[in-house]
Amino acid sequence: MSYPFEINNQTHVDFTEGKVGWRCPSNIAIVKYWGKHGRQLPQNASLSFTLSNAHTDTYIDYKKKEEKGLGLSFLFENKTNKAFEDKIRLFLKSVIEYFPILDHLYLDISSSNSFPHSSGIASSASAMAAISMCICEIDQQIAGIRSTEIDIKKASYLARLGSGSASRSVIPDLAEWGEHYAIDGSSDLFAVNVSEVHDVFKTFHDDILIISAAKKSVSSTAGHALMDGNIYSEARYQQANERITQLKKILKSGDVNAFGELAEDEAMTLHALMMCSDPSYVLMEPGTLDMIREIRTYRQETGIPIYFTLDAGPNIHLLYPDYVSAEAENFINEELLKYTENGRVIKDKVGNGPQKLV
Ligand code: DP6
Repeated sequence: MSYPFEINNQTHVDFTEGKVGWRCPSNIAIVKYWGKHGRQLPQNASLSFTLSNAHTDTYIDYKKKEEKGLGLSFLFENKTNKAFEDKIRLFLKSVIEYFPILDHLYLDISSSNSFPHSSGIASSASAMAAISMCICEIDQQIAGIRSTEIDIKKASYLARLGSGSASRSVIPDLAEWGEHYAIDGSSDLFAVNVSEVHDVFKTFHDDILIISAAKKSVSSTAGHALMDGNIYSEARYQQANERITQLKKILKSGDVNAFGELAEDEAMTLHALMMCSDPSYVLMEPGTLDMIREIRTYRQETGIPIYFTLDAGPNIHLLYPDYVSAEAENFINEELLKYTENGRVIKDKVGNGPQKLV
């Protein structure tokens, strides 16, 4: 099999130990990835804003291990977390073919999120992206590559194997994942940066209004699987790919209203697909619909470009350009906060991607 990057097969070099650390942000998809096949390959291309405030910090102390087999300990927010540890172990064992060195290391991993774990914010994207950046750096250090610059293609490929949307979290600003004729260098295997983006989208806001922090009744992974039997799936994949072409043009032109209309349509389509899956399910809550109504009325009455999108959950992501920040703040406080769980809002913005911590 050929890979879009080099595999370091050097597993018997002289090294003792080392430490790496990376901060990776979450991301919010504008055109959604919903449906997959093969080994974590998307059924359609997706495009997202990389965020900044909602992020995961991951540190790994690594040591050479005498006997073969990956060794691992994992702390989440300074506490043992068996479920996360098992997930990480399974993930890392599944990628040994790309990182043979993992079979000869003991990894002491510690990870924490900037947002509360139970906030209803998907943390798999930032978590898988941060661990992937760490593994790529360890691999480079052991191969004797002195540059601190990580092979982002490789990191995105690895993150994708952990969680599809994580592939986009290692890319600054705007990221696209999935082979698409309108995006240069795009691939189903890793995400790429979207070029030719109007400045208005480089400082865009995404305020996450928490309606419920409860665990989702159906995971994203299960939701993707239900697309296989959904009678609308083929039409949906085609629609998403057409929207990438439209969005590419909108991003270049700076047309905030066209952007917002497309983002809202995507959110509603995602949830419609859930509702017409077999079995059908609903992740929106009454507060989600209340907020959607408020946002649309506000826009109609004021003409101020404040839009929303949704993840696979009930929480509203309020999308708006930086120049209406003051209006957005008033609108949130006066009309939306009452629908949130204990007034919880995570204020976020488009960000610069991974940050090296050590
Ligand atoms: C609705 O990336 O969480 O957020 O690949 O199974 O880990 P897995 O799924 P995941 O799905 C994200 C779905 C989404 C849309 C998106 O981020 O594109």
